[in-house]
Amino acid sequence: MWGICFSLFALMSLGLLGVIVCGNVSRDDFPTGFVFGAGGSAYQTEGAANLDGRTPSIFDTFAHAKYTEGAGNVACDGYHKYKEDIQLMVETGLEAYRFSISWSRLIPNGRGPINPKGLQYYNNFINELVSHGIQPHVTLHHFDHPQVLEDQYGGWVSRKIVKDFTRYADVCFREFGDRVKHWTTINEANMFVIAGYDWGQLPPQRCSQPFGDCSKGNSSTEPYIAAHHILLAHASAYRLYEKNYKRDFWAMQDKQHGFIGFNILSFSFVPQTQSNEDEIATKRAIDFFIGWFLNPLVFGDYPDLMKKNAGSRIPAFTVQESKSVRSSFDFLGLNYYRGMHVNNVPNTLTWENRDAVADVRIQLENVLNDTSTYEYPSAPWGLAGVLQDIKQHYNNPPIYIHENGQRTRRNLTLVDWARIEYLQAYIGGVMDTIRDGTNVKGYFVWSFMDSFELMDGYESRFGLYYVDFDDSELKRLPKLSAHWYSHFLKRNNITLDSIVLSPSRDYI
Ligand code: NOJ
Repeated sequence: MWGICFSLFALMSLGLLGVIVCGNVSRDDFPTGFVFGAGGSAYQTEGAANLDGRTPSIFDTFAHAKYTEGAGNVACDGYHKYKEDIQLMVETGLEAYRFSISWSRLIPNGRGPINPKGLQYYNNFINELVSHGIQPHVTLHHFDHPQVLEDQYGGWVSRKIVKDFTRYADVCFREFGDRVKHWTTINEANMFVIAGYDWGQLPPQRCSQPFGDCSKGNSSTEPYIAAHHILLAHASAYRLYEKNYKRDFWAMQDKQHGFIGFNILSFSFVPQTQSNEDEIATKRAIDFFIGWFLNPLVFGDYPDLMKKNAGSRIPAFTVQESKSVRSSFDFLGLNYYRGMHVNNVPNTLTWENRDAVADVRIQLENVLNDTSTYEYPSAPWGLAGVLQDIKQHYNNPPIYIHENGQRTRRNLTLVDWARIEYLQAYIGGVMDTIRDGTNVKGYFVWSFMDSFELMDGYESRFGLYYVDFDDSELKRLPKLSAHWYSHFLKRNNITLDSIVLSPSRDYI
């Protein structure tokens, strides 16, 4: 079993910090082809939001309404500092980097002409990664479709987006597909539609009373409609890649040999009590949170329970659509941070004759507002349970853990034990599930560096690297977790007794 064994000898008087970290899983225990990396996303890291032809996305609009101080206008300024950042990735020993392309930087009008400067930037970025032997894993939509499409036709609530998204994906496959082999169409599709179209707490902030307070939207129907269009757009992009890029169709195209995936967030859902009602509610929560997307992707239709509860509010797939959506993924991207208790909330069923999403909703809202447990518990069995459930119910698909990481508060601390403890526990847990037959292919720490957070701006931090947002140079500093991860990746973790951090730095 994976054991945690830390001993810290802090030679504070000398200003040195030595660390021993023991654990009996090493990098070499993971199967051949398994990749370890870290991630970030366009709006959260790039900055240069108004430069070189980029137009706002729904993430910009959301962020400017919620935060002062320019929101993500500058963020980590990755747009200008990408070489420096990739150098840090190299020093850390990252094997892969997960990032997203800003649709509105590449195609500022959402459809039509490509922005040459956007194209240049992503080409430079990808080339820099590849030339250093770091695999690019690219996401096409990370809460950030172009605002212009939101204004024109309501973004994902309109079926028109299926065509625009497919064209955007086509541009990416064509321009970058010779070097990018791992594509994810949509990040956290389930969280995006629940928080963006039901609660109205994430972009594009659409919802209706009594579920949220937004200027537009309909919480009872739009989450289902947006989800439906997301699945159709994903499948359309998948089929396009399959037809034009993946296969050597009459030798008209070079083969790209890439893989296309779809990303969801999962919690481990645990009944609040042992009552029958809570057990049933938990199953319902899993269907509504995960089955909503995995059932169509694996079996071609929504879960029966969802169809029953949501009735005519959930769109139906035509036979052709079902065929297109079914099996339209080469891997599943899974984001996992923490567990969640589920209790039965019977009267929510009476709200506008709604459905069981409300059961989950109450719990999630509590978590989002919960400041008492800021750091996530290290409970890798939660993720292991989710992986086992997916293996059992969805034919054991290849999975990349796209996000897993620890949240800490903004104040400067480079000695982030909580993050090391968390990552070490989860990496060990992932190894255990692989031994138990799950098909996990890779693991990405969220995040490579501190960045602009969706829910709390610059107040919370997930990075292996600290970013000094008060410094005009946005200086990056390795946290202890960056050293820890680096030693693990470089296979030094067994005798990790010599992390010596610079004596000149403050460790608070
Ligand atoms: C999920 C999102 O994909 C990412 O953008 C966010 O920063 C992390 N969770 C942490 O909250």
